[in-house]
Order: sequence, then structure tokens, then C-alpha cells
Amino acid sequence: MSTLFEAHGLKMYYPLPQKSAIAPPLKLHAVDGVDLRISPGEAVGLVGESGCGKSTLSRLIARLVDPTEGEIFLEGREITKIRASEFSRSQDRRTIQMVFQDPSESLNPRLSVFDLIADPVRVLIRPSRAELRSRVEEAATAVNLPLALLDRFPHQLSGGQKARVGIARAIAVEPRLLVLDEPTSALDVSVQATVLQLLDRLRREREIALLFVSHDLNVVRLLCSRIVVMYMGQVVESGPSDEVYASPAHPYTRALLSAIPTLRPRRGERIKLEGDPQSPIAPSDMQCRFAGRCPVERPECSVTMPLLRTLDNGRLVRCHFAEEQ
Ligand SMILES: Nc1ncnc2c1ncn2[C@@H]1O[C@H](COP(=O)(O)OP(=O)(O)OP(=O)(O)O)[C@@H](O)[C@H]1O
Ligand SMILES: [Mg+2]
Repeated sequence: MSTLFEAHGLKMYYPLPQKSAIAPPLKLHAVDGVDLRISPGEAVGLVGESGCGKSTLSRLIARLVDPTEGEIFLEGREITKIRASEFSRSQDRRTIQMVFQDPSESLNPRLSVFDLIADPVRVLIRPSRAELRSRVEEAATAVNLPLALLDRFPHQLSGGQKARVGIARAIAVEPRLLVLDEPTSALDVSVQATVLQLLDRLRREREIALLFVSHDLNVVRLLCSRIVVMYMGQVVESGPSDEVYASPAHPYTRALLSAIPTLRPRRGERIKLEGDPQSPIAPSDMQCRFAGRCPVERPECSVTMPLLRTLDNGRLVRCHFAEEQ
């Protein structure tokens, strides 16, 4: 399979306010060495508990912010050299588009639906008036937004309609990759389902790849063929969704999956994680980030950090003892 997007060693460290003038500067390791590859038309699900770095990673991938370290390639070309501020006006901005979590907050309330969708088209494509209108109408139609709504303003729309505007705005510039950070979490369940179907249709019909961030593992399973599990800024497991759901290889993935309510009867007891998570502020590179909470921890886990490695079945996992469970 060809590669659309590739990232190597992505890091995002947030500097924290110094406690005193002589105290060493502290950094919060929000994303700490992530590699990722996405093929054209592929749907990848990114999951993990709150604070593990999903939003930070998606903003890095969408090139909205500059990484502390690491490289990003789009269609084989490195795009990390261009700063995020410049990137927003570049032609590569057309290729990667981001859809935000809460459409009520991300849509400018003073712009009509037409202008909301037209905005990125104006900046990135500079079309004639006629072409602008036809692009906006095409994008609205693609997300099942009635054209009569184009003159309305965000506060006159339902949650589902706002979500559609957010997606229309992103696809109007013909991206190859959509990065979606919890795009349906503000919607009720029935509306959520129609938006997910819409995303799946766009992926199939236009070969748009999706990086889909979600708390909801059931949703990820429905939409995504591959799943990436994050824990404290690192990828701890990755593989085909069906296989990861059927036989999670990392103890954290097992705990995460055991907490899905509908699957609980088939999966046995819910795994409750005891112990405290490590601090993301200057964490040690000498131990597993999951140490202290891991139900199958052994002494080695607190002296050597496991690398992300490939198991015989092709699964990527960051655990010293993945084969033994
Ligand atoms: N601008 C910032 N400055 C400092 N720390 C930040 C900043 N943004 C995020 N963080 C920290 O980085 C870590 C990762 O945050 P992030 O928002 O990426 O997590 P998340 O996985 O998206 O969480 P959630 O599921 O709650 O949305 C957290 O510890 C968070 O407190
Ligand atoms: Mg988030």
C-alpha cells in the first residue's frame, strides 16, 4: 500500500512556568516519540485515556502546531521544515484538514454557513465567484446539508448540522487526510451515527484518509480499520482494529477494552487499574510509562522502557512481556 502521511519521532513538550529563577525548566511530555503511517483512504482510530496526548498529536499531524522534535512527510515530501504559521497558507494545507470537536466553538458565529465553508476555499484556492459558489454547494451537498441552510448562521443550526458544516468546510478544499478530534462527542447518539456514516462514505467515495480521535472504542471499531492506542504520550499498541479488539496484546489495551460496557459480558471481568499514573512532567526514560498501574508488571518494567516492537503476528506493541500473556 502506498503512503499518504508519515511521521517519525514526533514529540511535543510543553514548557511549564518555572518555580523559581534557579529551578530547572520543566517540560510536560504530551507527545513523546510517535511514529505513524497512514495510507490513502485508510481510517485510523486514535484512542487512549484523557490527557494521553491525542489532541496534541492530532494538532501536530494536522500541522497546526510545530513539534518540539520529529519529522512529518506528506506524499513523500518532508513538510516539517515549513513552520505551522506558513503552512496554513500553503498548498499542502489543502491536503490535510482538521475537523474540531465542538462545532459550536470552532465555527465563527458571525459568518453565514456559506462563508464558513467558503473561507478556506477563498484562502487556499482563490477561485472565481462562480467557482467558489459551486465548490461550496458541492461540499454542502456531499455532507447532506440542504442548500437553503447556506444563508443561516451557526446559532440557527442543530448540533448535527453544525458538525456537517465543520466537515463541509474541511472537504471543500479536497483534502487527502482529515484529522478529526472527537468530531461526534458533542452529538447525541442517533446524530452521531449519521455523521459516522457520512465520514465513512467520504472515505470510500473520495479516498480521503481519516485519523479519527475518540474516547468511544465502539465507534472506532465501526469506522476504523486500524487502531492506535496511546498511553502517556506514546503509542503502546497498533494493529488492525478487528485483531486488536479480539486479542489486545498490551495490558493497557486490555484494560481499555474491558471497560467497553457492551462487550463486558463476552470479555469477562472489567480490569480495574490500581495505582497512580506517572507524572507526564519530565517522565523517566528508564521505565515503562505504564509501570505502577500495570496489572502484570514485573521488576524489569521499572528499570527498562519497552520499545514499540513488532510481534510475530504483525502487531506493534510496547511491552516487554506481550508474548507471555
Ligand atoms: N497548551 C498546553 N500547555 C501545557 N500543557 C498542555 C497544553 N495542552 C495540553 N497539555 C497537556 O498535555 C497532555 C496531553 O493533552 P491532550 O489535550 O493532548 O490530551 P487528550 O488525550 O486529547 O485528552 P482528552 O481525551 O481529555 O481530550 C495533558 O497532560 C495536558 O494537560
Ligand atoms: Mg483531546
